[in-house]
Amino acid sequence: MNGFTPTRNLALELVRVTEAAALAAGRFMGRGDKNAADKAAVDAMRLVLNSIEINGVIIIGEGVKDEAPMLYNGERVGSGDTGLELDIAVDPIDGTRPLAYGRSNSIATVAIAPRGSMFDPGPFVYMNKIAVGPEAKGKVHIEASICENLKAIASAKGKSIEDLTTIILDRPRHDDMVSEIRKCGARIRLIPDGDVAAALMTAWPDSGIDVLFGIGGTPEGVLAACALRAMGGEIQGKLYARDNNELRRGREMGYDFEKVLTMDDMVASEDVFFAATGITDGELLKGVKYFGNGASTDSLVVRGLTGTVRQINATHRWDKLNSLSAIKY
Ligand code: FBP
Repeated sequence: MNGFTPTRNLALELVRVTEAAALAAGRFMGRGDKNAADKAAVDAMRLVLNSIEINGVIIIGEGVKDEAPMLYNGERVGSGDTGLELDIAVDPIDGTRPLAYGRSNSIATVAIAPRGSMFDPGPFVYMNKIAVGPEAKGKVHIEASICENLKAIASAKGKSIEDLTTIILDRPRHDDMVSEIRKCGARIRLIPDGDVAAALMTAWPDSGIDVLFGIGGTPEGVLAACALRAMGGEIQGKLYARDNNELRRGREMGYDFEKVLTMDDMVASEDVFFAATGITDGELLKGVKYFGNGASTDSLVVRGLTGTVRQINATHRWDKLNSLSAIKY
């Protein structure tokens, strides 16, 4: 024992934030209205975040890429100036499209870390990423070839490359990467959306996913870094410019698109908390189930300092909740 005294686990408070977002957004499953779903999630998330005794600043908000309703970058959240000074990353719905069209793997996520520890990607929305679970931590490099990385992961996990399952967003920009993975012989899960859940799956024992490759959102990259840091996995990223204008603008603002962003660059503290709640059914988390007088949620709660990962299944009762809450679920 080195005298560690259990302290406040903010992730247990954060899970109420993602549960609220999921309960509100889940009503919009299959209704084809991405913005209405996002607004419901953002409103619920903001309400609960503001009830927590913290002094938070949103570093990673949502909406820049999709012009969706947002929790603004720079917005202050929390119940007051007296609470802990924290950076906050939110993705009220990762997988807005799957939710709006009734497909799987849509989740609500939030992460917090001490003030000044989260990478601020500014207006740059895409990041190339590689993410792995604990066994392959320290064995991959985003600048190595796909085959070199697959060899390293296979050797770290005592498998052959043919046994490995990669996960990658199904986008034309990944055509070359997909060809390379095929040439090397690994299996591929092409997903329509949701690379936060995909990154987490690399560190989830029974997911069967060994590595995430490819270009996805920068907010999602930082959120995944917060979770993987706590879960003992690893993510590396490189900002990805869509065109020369974006590259020039980034350089003018002091962003280096050649720099490899390590997990430490994305979140420079062990003292990180992450929570996610399923909105639609997924491999990692079940979606919200509504049953007349209430609903159930399935969440994941992670604390960096201790590495504890909790799964929380909650039952929510409308007769109680709706009489107390400003949100009507
Ligand atoms: P949102 O639902 O937050 O829009 O994100 C969905 C998502 O699939 C992310 O998981 C991923 O990082 C990003 O979009 C990829 O962007 P794009 O759809 O533009 O390729």
